[in-house]
Amino acid sequence: MSGGSFSRVGVVGLGTMGAGIAEVLARGGLAVVGIEINQDALDRGRGNLEGSTGRAVKRGKLTEEAQREILDRITLSTDFADLAECDLVIEAVPERLELKRRVFEQLDRVCRADAVLATNTSSLSVTDIAVTTNRPAKIVGVHFFNPAPVMRLVEIIGTVLTEDGAVARVADLVRGLGKTPVTIGDRAGFVANRLLFGYLNQAATMLESGHATRDDIDAAMKTGGGLPMGPFTLMDLIGLDTCLEVLEAIYQESRDRRHAPAPVLRELVTAGLLGRKTGRGFYSYD
Ligand code: CAA
Repeated sequence: MSGGSFSRVGVVGLGTMGAGIAEVLARGGLAVVGIEINQDALDRGRGNLEGSTGRAVKRGKLTEEAQREILDRITLSTDFADLAECDLVIEAVPERLELKRRVFEQLDRVCRADAVLATNTSSLSVTDIAVTTNRPAKIVGVHFFNPAPVMRLVEIIGTVLTEDGAVARVADLVRGLGKTPVTIGDRAGFVANRLLFGYLNQAATMLESGHATRDDIDAAMKTGGGLPMGPFTLMDLIGLDTCLEVLEAIYQESRDRRHAPAPVLRELVTAGLLGRKTGRGFYSYD
């Protein structure tokens, strides 16, 4: 495995997606700088990294020595200045445009002028983020799927401002990590979510209308559709807040009613029931 033309990669935000991305990069032999906003968040990020690689050790997929090597490649910090030597930085902070813009303004200040800056957004416009920087030609979307260490697809998004070389270099990196890159323009939902979320939203609508129960819809799609998870199990894994954000973004762009978020989804999000990460969503988790 190799990082192609990148050797030192920063990851900003070490939640579920950021920690997964940092792990994938470190497993690929790259030096990784992981950034969080404060010490508590950094400790949680370290916990995510240790938990995920520890699980692989328990399952006999990784030796303790290999785990240590992977974790040793990841430097953790709360100081953006530690990203100064990175040739690529991937941002994976929560899906709020203002927050992402602030992060990119900081990255633009501290990172080398030739560094490529990437966002892992699943619902925001990459162009909206790119234009807040002084280097829009170096801004790309790099959209990993959850769980990042397992899912092979990575969508790479170039805007009308992105230089071809940046997209090609990131695609080479992704291939070197053993993943499958697809390159796409900046459209809400990109490819996979644009197709997947019409189906997930329809499942929620069917539940609401009493068409079938949660368990029967999940069982039907898992055993009859040959999918690893039914739609409600999957929405709980993705996070219902993320599901709502993705649907709202696609609906806003397409005005296709299939993407108008099912009311039950909004209700659960308002109630703070966001899926696995909060212990309850469509299902409860102990
Ligand atoms: N981190 C690291 N590895 C993990 C993991 C995690 N969070 N979860 C599972 N794995 C690994 C396991 O270690 C195991 O690896 P080995 O085979 O090497 O031992 C493998 O994945 C299978 O895990 P399990 O046996 O525990 O469980 P499973 O067979 O039910 O698989 C799953 C779990 C991989 C999550 C599978 O159910 C699956 O593929 N589900 C669908 C996930 C999906 O569709 N994701 C995309 C969501 S959309 C999205 O993310 C985009 C967006 O913008 C919202």
